[in-house]
Parts: sequence; structure tokens; C-alpha cells
Amino acid sequence: MEVIGQGAEAVVSKKGAEVLKERLAKDYRLPILDNKLRKARTRREAKIINKLEELNFPSPRLREVCDKRMLIAMDFLEGPKVRDVLDDNVKICEEIGRKIALLHQHNIIHGDLTTSNMILKDEVHFLDFGLSFISNKVEDKAVDLHLLRQALESKHFKVYDTAFENVLRGYNDYENSEEVIQRLNLVEQRGRNKKKS
Ligand SMILES: Nc1ncnc2c1ncn2[C@@H]1O[C@H](COP(=O)(O)OP(=O)(O)O)[C@@H](O)[C@H]1O
Ligand SMILES: [Mg+2]
Repeated sequence: MEVIGQGAEAVVSKKGAEVLKERLAKDYRLPILDNKLRKARTRREAKIINKLEELNFPSPRLREVCDKRMLIAMDFLEGPKVRDVLDDNVKICEEIGRKIALLHQHNIIHGDLTTSNMILKDEVHFLDFGLSFISNKVEDKAVDLHLLRQALESKHFKVYDTAFENVLRGYNDYENSEEVIQRLNLVEQRGRNKKKS
């Protein structure tokens, strides 16, 4: 077994063709709350990954979920993180935008859209659905895009402008894209005003 990711929330390890994602206890949280939170995120991630499979959306297939051990098992996706290939392949952002359009069409909010949560294997696959939820609200969709914009700005500053333009071009696939993008501008305006005051 080989550890392939150790984020703030979980240890991710690879065992053959399988990936185990285990949410570890956080001792800075009250144990009862910590358990609740980890259980909720584990279940949520499993539920959304299953739904994505139904939709034929490119993400890892779920193999197992155990909300006692706070663990999910899924297929290993062989390929680079989008984070490591995007700067030399900015056109990939249009594909990313089209995929977000598809999620939002089904009212799936990813909740943590960064290029570390995407793997390129033939096409872009999305990962890390522990903060995902179902919502038809324009605001939630706008915030989803806002987080991606921020991630692009900080991790891909060299190509950021073109990258985000391409995302929005792809996102146009979504029938309510215009409304969401309008709201995105408001969300970002709000952010700027907050910074000033
Ligand atoms: N199914 C998978 N196939 C290949 N790599 C994966 C898979 N799941 C996670 N990873 C790798 O592990 C890292 C962390 O996993 P992730 O689900 O994003 O957890 P975290 O909540 O810690 O960010 C990812 O950025 C990715 O590199
Ligand atoms: Mg992640």
C-alpha cells in the first residue's frame, strides 16, 4: 500500500488498482462533532460518486464505503493531476467548463473545484466529492465557479486569463450559464468590497 495523498481531511492510499480514502480523526474537533462530520462527508462522497456513475460522468467508480471506518474505496485513475499539465495545455479548460456545466445541469455542486481534484486520463476526471451537495441555487453554482477561478488564479497565474475564459466558454453548455455568470460577478464584487472595508 502506497500513500498517494495526504490532505487536510484524509489519507489516500493506493492498493493495486484500488484507492482507499480514509478520513482520520481530528483532535482539534470535539470527538462527537468530528465523528458526525467525517461520517457525513464519507457518505456524501459515496452517494455523489454513485450518482455520477449513473450519469456516466468521468470520475472514479465506487467500490466500497464504510462509514464506521470512515473509508471509501474506489478505482485508481492512472494519469497526471490536471494541476501538473494545465499550464502547457490551457485548452483543457474548455473541457473542464463543459464538465462543470454537466454537473450543474444535474444540480450537483462540487464544492472544491481545484486542479488537484482533477486527473487527466483520456479525458478530465473529477475527484474529491467530500464537500459536494445537491442544489439548484444559482448562488451555489456561482460560488462553485468562483472557487475554481481562485484556484486558477493562484496555481496557474501564468495562463490564468485564458484559462478562465476557456472554462466559461465550456460552461456555456449549461442552459442557465448566463444567470450563473452574472451571479459570479456579484459574488466577486462582494468579495472585493469585503476586502476594502
Ligand atoms: N481515484 C483516484 N485515482 C487516482 N488518484 C487519486 C484518486 N483519488 C485521490 N487521488 C489522489 O489523491 C489526492 C488526494 O485525494 P482527494 O480525494 O483529493 O483528497 P483530499 O480531500 O485529501 O484532497 C488527489 O489529489 C489525487 O492526486
Ligand atoms: Mg483533494
